[in-house]
Amino acid sequence: MRIEPFALERWFAEVEADADIMLAESGVRPLDAGRFDTDPGELGYVIPTAGDPEFRETIGAHHDRSAEETVFTCGTQEANFLAFLSVVDSHAVVVTPTYGSLSAIPAALAETTDVPLSDPDWTLDVESVAEAIRPDTDLVVVNNPNNPTGRSHDEASMRALYEVCADNGTYLLCDEVYRLLDEDPMPPVASFGRYGISTAGVSKSFGLAGLRFGWLCGPTAVVAAVENWKDYTTISPSKFGQHVARQAWDRREELLAENREHAAANREVVVEFLEEHDLSWSAPDCGTNAFVEVPEGFAGGESFCRSLVEAESVVLAPGEAFDRPDWFRIGFGLPQEELVDGLARVGSFLQRHA
Ligand SMILES: Cc1ncc(COP(=O)(O)O)c(C=O)c1O
Repeated sequence: MRIEPFALERWFAEVEADADIMLAESGVRPLDAGRFDTDPGELGYVIPTAGDPEFRETIGAHHDRSAEETVFTCGTQEANFLAFLSVVDSHAVVVTPTYGSLSAIPAALAETTDVPLSDPDWTLDVESVAEAIRPDTDLVVVNNPNNPTGRSHDEASMRALYEVCADNGTYLLCDEVYRLLDEDPMPPVASFGRYGISTAGVSKSFGLAGLRFGWLCGPTAVVAAVENWKDYTTISPSKFGQHVARQAWDRREELLAENREHAAANREVVVEFLEEHDLSWSAPDCGTNAFVEVPEGFAGGESFCRSLVEAESVVLAPGEAFDRPDWFRIGFGLPQEELVDGLARVGSFLQRHA
């Protein structure tokens, strides 16, 4: 099995450590560990290894699923990885642009068909997905709200997409890691019916990526296959991660309200900046990610981002990492002073290249 290098991670590995400002982190700024009880007691494996049954029941209920239909993982990344290993055999359909692993892993396992969101609004065309589905399609993969565009496909489109999948006996996996940053989150895809699989975690909406805690909710057959693979990857979720994630979940109203407010305030700062510099963007529906069109005078996203980081020590994410070279991704979840500083640097760079 061969897998493409994860272009976005390789770009970060190249430039992030030495740069002053990271304007490309996709989630909301991290919360401080001091806000939680950080003593989980004995640091053994989580037993049962699928995760604490009571907490799984809570997370499962949020998805209209039971504890048995819920498994805890080391981040959303592992939940997606194990779902692909468990479900993808012949063919998968992937809605793009999307987070690199959501297209690269299915492509390493089977034939895939990409279905692009319609540029420049990045709307989901359910008909195009229906046309791409074959009798042997095991899985359709979608990320909602979407990274990199920040677009949130509405509930009617998502339900229509689910029906198309279910009619074909195809699973629909929705990566919902940004869902709870939405003011009014739509129901998780796992609650739509037996073919719905939701993956998510506490990294992006809660600002707790360091916990490496996530989950998958879906049909028992898929959860059982995921657990089977998980015995060979991480065995159990992190005990520490589960301990803190549980507190965060219990306090989600407070924490999510704080994070949504932070994201909304930062969004205003970005809107003002883009207007001032006559740049157009994907106007995200929620979250802290957006696609911005590469300004004139640059060969593409990578040339723009590379010149910028060399001149101003500010990291943006080139659209090439999402197969969309005319765009770059901005992540505006960072602390506001850093955002303002970073945008000021981008502003001087743009002025010099005007
Ligand atoms: C859509 C999407 N899924 C999953 C991940 C990884 O999430 P986690 O930190 O929960 O593994 C990311 C990280 O950027 C992401 O954007």
